[in-house]
Amino acid sequence: MSTTPARQSTPRVYTPVDHIRPELKSMSPYTPILPYEVLAERLNRSPADIVKLDANENPYGPAPAVAKGLADAQYLHIYPDPASGFLRDALQDYTGLSKEYLLAGAGADELIDLLFRLFIVPGKGHSVINLPPTFGMYKFDADVNGADVVNVKRKHGSFAVDIEAVEHVFENAAPEDYPKIIFVASPNNPDGSVVSDDVLRRLLALPTLVVLDEAYFEFAQDNRLLWVPRYDNLVVLRTFSKWAGLAGMRVGYGAFPLGIIEHLWKIKQPYNVSVASQIAAVASIREKGNLLAKVERMIAQRGLFYKEVKRFDWLTPFPSQSNYVLCRVAGGRTAAQVKEQLAERGILIRYYTAKGLADCIRISMGTEEQMKRLYEALVEL
Ligand SMILES: Cc1ncc(COP(=O)(O)O)c(C=O)c1O
Repeated sequence: MSTTPARQSTPRVYTPVDHIRPELKSMSPYTPILPYEVLAERLNRSPADIVKLDANENPYGPAPAVAKGLADAQYLHIYPDPASGFLRDALQDYTGLSKEYLLAGAGADELIDLLFRLFIVPGKGHSVINLPPTFGMYKFDADVNGADVVNVKRKHGSFAVDIEAVEHVFENAAPEDYPKIIFVASPNNPDGSVVSDDVLRRLLALPTLVVLDEAYFEFAQDNRLLWVPRYDNLVVLRTFSKWAGLAGMRVGYGAFPLGIIEHLWKIKQPYNVSVASQIAAVASIREKGNLLAKVERMIAQRGLFYKEVKRFDWLTPFPSQSNYVLCRVAGGRTAAQVKEQLAERGILIRYYTAKGLADCIRISMGTEEQMKRLYEALVEL
């Protein structure tokens, strides 16, 4: 007779899914963009034939030094430097800010999430201020990290930050309820407007952390990263996804007050920026002349875009200081129709249905040839 005790099975009363954090269980899933190749197949075209103007990527791709750096990489079998040392040295040269203020991340996206983790205690009713319409990750990360979102809409027509309304949130709240963070994208995605120095100073005077997201800084040149040492409540985020054409490598960085960066070092995943991403980012800074010349070409395309769209009385562009232009669609057409008709011609753009952006499309600036194809297609519509 065997003396081995019967194996204990998990008691049936225990259902793991019942223990998932309730706010995450009820959260709607993120709608990802379809992979490029899948979209191409759906449209019955080869990927090379697609004009992708829907995600503010850099149509020229990375600097040639990136491919060379990756081909020559010798230490892909070794974990990356947790401090991204070579990259932060290069960033110190690129930004002019001492590297003690700089932390690299797997895209600016990772740094946004890290800030939530550092400041928000889930379930405590902590809040952050979001300035819609704006980049969707602030709301996404607020949901994931159990933060309440106080929306202060940007001004109708200009998309300027409604600073009086933001100040009002603090005037009406008890100090223990002050929002912990305010996210300000500048240039803002999707319209491309920039926050003025004056408004930024008023935000910095509030009892909260101001996260200035300068993902598109190179297209606007409104450099506030060097303000960071002067304010203990200012964080500036940047990325290699746009100017350096490295969206697929996931590498960004931020400038943080010393009292904050010290704690971010503790909570970040030790190997957050891969060896390949660090090599690619350093190579991009070494070849920045080449990349910034491409940025100039995209800025030139933006200037040309405003001239070209004058031909289409059903399309009204908003002023942009970034590598995309938001346009309102009118004249009996809808934004969804325009998006669909351009997609049939192999041209991908973003369209919006949300309040305040209804009937708007956003077009990223492409290469000279891609923009030519866009204008030809718009004439056909
Ligand atoms: C305003 C803004 N911030 C950050 C990002 C994301 O940057 P990254 O690719 O470095 O995560 C984007 C990407 O579209 C963006 O529009």
